[in-house]
Amino acid sequence: MLDKIKEIYQEIDQYNVTSKEQLEQFRMRYISRKGVVTELFEGLKSIPTEDRRAVGQELNGLKNLAQARFDEFNAHVEEQASTNSAPPVDLTLPTVPNLTGNQHPLVLVRQQIIQIFERIGFNVVDGPEIETDWYNFGALNFPVNHPARDMQDTFFVEKSSSDSSADVLLRTHTSNVQTRLMERQRNAAPGTFQPIRSIMPGRVYRNETISARAHCMFHQVEGIYIDRNVGFKDLKDTLYHFVKEMFEPGTQIRFRPSYFPFTEPSAEIDISCQICGGKGCNICKQSGWVEIAGSGMVDPQVLINCGIDPEEYTGFAFGMGIERITQLKFVVNDLRLYTENDVRFLRQFEGV
Ligand code: DAH
Repeated sequence: MLDKIKEIYQEIDQYNVTSKEQLEQFRMRYISRKGVVTELFEGLKSIPTEDRRAVGQELNGLKNLAQARFDEFNAHVEEQASTNSAPPVDLTLPTVPNLTGNQHPLVLVRQQIIQIFERIGFNVVDGPEIETDWYNFGALNFPVNHPARDMQDTFFVEKSSSDSSADVLLRTHTSNVQTRLMERQRNAAPGTFQPIRSIMPGRVYRNETISARAHCMFHQVEGIYIDRNVGFKDLKDTLYHFVKEMFEPGTQIRFRPSYFPFTEPSAEIDISCQICGGKGCNICKQSGWVEIAGSGMVDPQVLINCGIDPEEYTGFAFGMGIERITQLKFVVNDLRLYTENDVRFLRQFEGV
């Protein structure tokens, strides 16, 4: 009997359980009423009385061991079941896309414009968005009450009661930086004028109702070149170069006579429509041409207003809208898209 008990001890010691089925087998064999341990207890009756106590103690030890091992296996199996219930990992699923930001289309186009002009010797100059009437209008030959002011509906910040050139407003064009720059270059060293070849990108404001075709806030790039012997041919060459670099090969360009108070002569620059290739569509209003910039030779009176001698120096200037150029390059037909921050619109410029 003691040998048998020893044998079962060893069996239990070496037993291992890794599943519910094995746990049940263990229970049936060592714990249940039909198991070996119960059977051994029944055998106690046939043990001589003097040995019965010692064998009984051994048997009790075996019974306790079987129960302790069962509890241990049970805990292990349950723990396994709970970790296995975590959702399975599907290694075939595509990875979550790693979203990176991208530049706003107006920033992309502004950078491209800057790069084109920097390569031909223009530097970039900044100027204020809140401006006095003098730098935005007066010095540029827009006299007070002159109808030319109606071309640009203005947001006023402060009206001066005595001197209207001191009125404060949101600049209606980047041409205010022309005026400031000319004045500054004249003052750079007394008695000398430092030639200018600069572009001035920036935000401008007009009191317009917001719609697909008009906005109260948009962007321009102003350009100005003033030195001895600068002529209209230089203006044309510069803008031909710009159009060639910026737009599709084969784009046509034309100069159309126009009027600006601060340039004489003045011209508007049209290019063949990038959308329909010049055949006529609703972007070009069926004409095949779209206007991209205003330009001209700086009016001698503007040079005088800024303290530069027009007998010695001449120059050209131009101004273009960044939204318009972006519209032509990327076929954006509603100006409001630029400021609505709709990611479905903005993401289309990823990697451009
Ligand atoms: N400032 C003009 C506008 O906003 C554009 C312009 C026209 C700028 C002719 C110039 C220029 O420098 O020479 O409509």
